Amino acid sequence: MMKDQIEQIRLAAVDALKNATNLSDLENIRVSFLGKKGQLTSLLKQMGSLSADLRPAMGQLANDVRAYLEGEISKAATALQSAELNHRLSRETIDVTMPGEDVCIGHKHPMSIVLDETKQIFLGMGFSVADGPEVEYDYYNFEALNIPKDHPARDTQDTFYISENVLLRTQTSSCQIRYMENHKPPIRIIAPGRVYRSDALDATHSPMFHQIEGLVVDEGISMADLKGTLEVFAKRLYGEDVVCRFRPHHFPFTEPSAEMDIQCFNCHGKGCRLCKNEGWIELLGAGMVHPRVLETCNIDPNKYSGYAFGIGLERITMRRYQIGDLRMFFENDTRFLGQF
Ligand code: DAH
Repeated sequence: MMKDQIEQIRLAAVDALKNATNLSDLENIRVSFLGKKGQLTSLLKQMGSLSADLRPAMGQLANDVRAYLEGEISKAATALQSAELNHRLSRETIDVTMPGEDVCIGHKHPMSIVLDETKQIFLGMGFSVADGPEVEYDYYNFEALNIPKDHPARDTQDTFYISENVLLRTQTSSCQIRYMENHKPPIRIIAPGRVYRSDALDATHSPMFHQIEGLVVDEGISMADLKGTLEVFAKRLYGEDVVCRFRPHHFPFTEPSAEMDIQCFNCHGKGCRLCKNEGWIELLGAGMVHPRVLETCNIDPNKYSGYAFGIGLERITMRRYQIGDLRMFFENDTRFLGQF
């Protein structure tokens, strides 16, 4: 009987509604029972076959069931929506009593700290900062610096050659030539950068390390300017009570040449493990620019003179923080780096 069929459709729809877990389930149920091609609609299309006296009652019943199911569907929709909202709110709850997470803040590398300070010291004395390429011509690294073809420093055991005339620079002194080629005196620069030598890595050697070159050229520049400037540098970096001395040395591109030592700050000159019992610690190489180097760069050595210096950045940083092993700079161990 049609009445029973309508009741079955109602029960089936109510059953389906119980199992609906989301809004799209509900929409499917609505379409499959109440939609244009849905079960209830199809049944109503068969009304024509009923006798005329039954039709109004069946029509009424079908409409009641439709209204009832529409009500149930919208109730279920409201319930699902609020369940969904509650679920989302509970997921988004923030527990303000939870302990925070540590934010790791990076550190400057100790060599960056010392390089920045060195730059500030020299900028304060009127120097500017220049640079040059790490892959360099033989000419700038050796030839123009008065280092002839048979000089031992050119040995392939010391130098990384890329081709006969191209190499990885072994010293930032190459920047002196590049700068003088393009600038007329007065010149007052420092040039920090990487240099390379074919050395095995150990506590005091590395195939890649850093130098800070210095160059001053003007009229009337003397050894006194060199000494005064480098002493100021040492005192600013290591403290006012630092004691400096200059020792004669040899570099092909300076004449005369010297090395500057500072008195060992551990034993104050008496001799200890840190200074290998010498009482002094070597800090840098320096000298008066060789007239031949000036000439090569078209600067008249009869009118101009200058001084130059080369500082090992690893070395001055090790001295500054009493670091015993150069390899620590390159290992990137945060337990080491975090101390600065
Ligand atoms: N280039 C030298 C080296 O690598 C260091 C040096 C010494 C640079 C004396 C200079 C200088 O400018 O005058 O050992």
